[in-house]
Amino acid sequence: MNTAPKALIEAALAVRENAFAPFSKFKVGAALEDAEGRIHTGCNVENATYGLTLCAERIAVFKAISEGARVFRRAVIAADTDTLTPPCGACRQILWEFCGDIPIILVNPRGKTESYQLKDLFPKPFDASYL
Ligand code: THU
Repeated sequence: MNTAPKALIEAALAVRENAFAPFSKFKVGAALEDAEGRIHTGCNVENATYGLTLCAERIAVFKAISEGARVFRRAVIAADTDTLTPPCGACRQILWEFCGDIPIILVNPRGKTESYQLKDLFPKPFDASYL
């Protein structure tokens, strides 16, 4: 079991409150820890055309990349569900390409947590090694 530092869990729960989710009402927060211990956060941002919606995880990854981070230790994903919310398929691809096989820790506001290695959530990935 990979235990996320309390600060990373708190960051994911806090940024979840910023979610722009007027259509689904489903708020998600993500917090990514880089190799220097910096925390990069993201929340889901929905769009009236629905398909342009971006998930919390991808926003956290892209924010981190644009801030110069390149190596990551772990990610926390926060949503208010009793069965903890895993990353969608598109986010698994992006997390794999930019973060590799990191622990993905799922949490809810009531203190429930589960940890998975990304390779177990995303078996047989396509990535740049095939190109
Ligand atoms: N969503 C995320 O942000 N991350 C996930 O892991 C699952 C889904 C968002 C997308 C959309 O705004 C809302 O949750 C409902 O699908």
